[in-house]
Amino acid sequence: MTNDSSKAPIIVIKDLHKTFGTNKVLDGFNLVLNEGENLVVMGKSGSGKSVMIKCLIGLETPDSGTISVMNKEINTLEQVAIDELRTEIGFLFQGSALYDSMSVRENLEFPLRRHTKKFGKIKDTTPLVIEALESVGLANAINLMPNELSGGMKRRIALARTLILKPKIILYDEPTTGLDPITSKEIILLMKSIQEKYNTSSIIITHDVDCAKAIANRMILLIDGINYIEGTFEELNASNDPKVQAFFK
Ligand SMILES: Nc1ncnc2c1ncn2[C@@H]1O[C@H](COP(=O)(O)OP(=O)(O)O)[C@@H](O)[C@H]1O
Ligand SMILES: [Mg+2]
Repeated sequence: MTNDSSKAPIIVIKDLHKTFGTNKVLDGFNLVLNEGENLVVMGKSGSGKSVMIKCLIGLETPDSGTISVMNKEINTLEQVAIDELRTEIGFLFQGSALYDSMSVRENLEFPLRRHTKKFGKIKDTTPLVIEALESVGLANAINLMPNELSGGMKRRIALARTLILKPKIILYDEPTTGLDPITSKEIILLMKSIQEKYNTSSIIITHDVDCAKAIANRMILLIDGINYIEGTFEELNASNDPKVQAFFK
């Protein structure tokens, strides 16, 4: 199975602290993501899940602590090296919107043009666009405009736009929030099939217990600014700790 702890860690977060004013959000948070793993992070609304992800991709600067991605400590890197590392990290955020004035094809070509360093100048982007669209089951949407897509389709196209860069790591922040239950299930199946097809490693932030159950190789609960408890879904679900139980009711 993919939950093989002998595999190399691909992300290591150590003793992360982040305070906004008097609001101590992260207070010594630790996380290890192993290669090929789907790691679910659950926490109450406002507990700092998105802040943690933002620290990971450099959108927020931690007060203290270290973050290593693929054995590189990100706060020691120059901007160029950070940009290069970023091409290895895809993300799907709730707000990762498509460009409304661009077709699906153009939306997918956009990251390829931005990251010419990784790919060089690609003469014909069509095979890459089609491959990414096929991975999300939407090859026939290539010429549609975003306003012709349903909410679920938009999120799948956003995922295809991430996949086209062939990232080693995918970060999902609330990937099923705002979707109806059937579409949520489709997105969850898609996340699983992507892990299997590309052997990506993922951190999935969710408060959706069904999503966690379906996808987690391992879970971390973010409570009181720390990695309060870690384990498989079954292990956490069986915990007697009221703070932990509260998530599984
Ligand atoms: N840029 C910011 N400035 C001030 N407070 C922030 C900022 N970003 C997040 N916060 C606060 O940090 C806490 C955690 O936010 P967040 O990580 O978004 O929570 P969630 O776990 O729901 O994703 C919240 O109290 C939020 O108001
Ligand atoms: Mg959030």
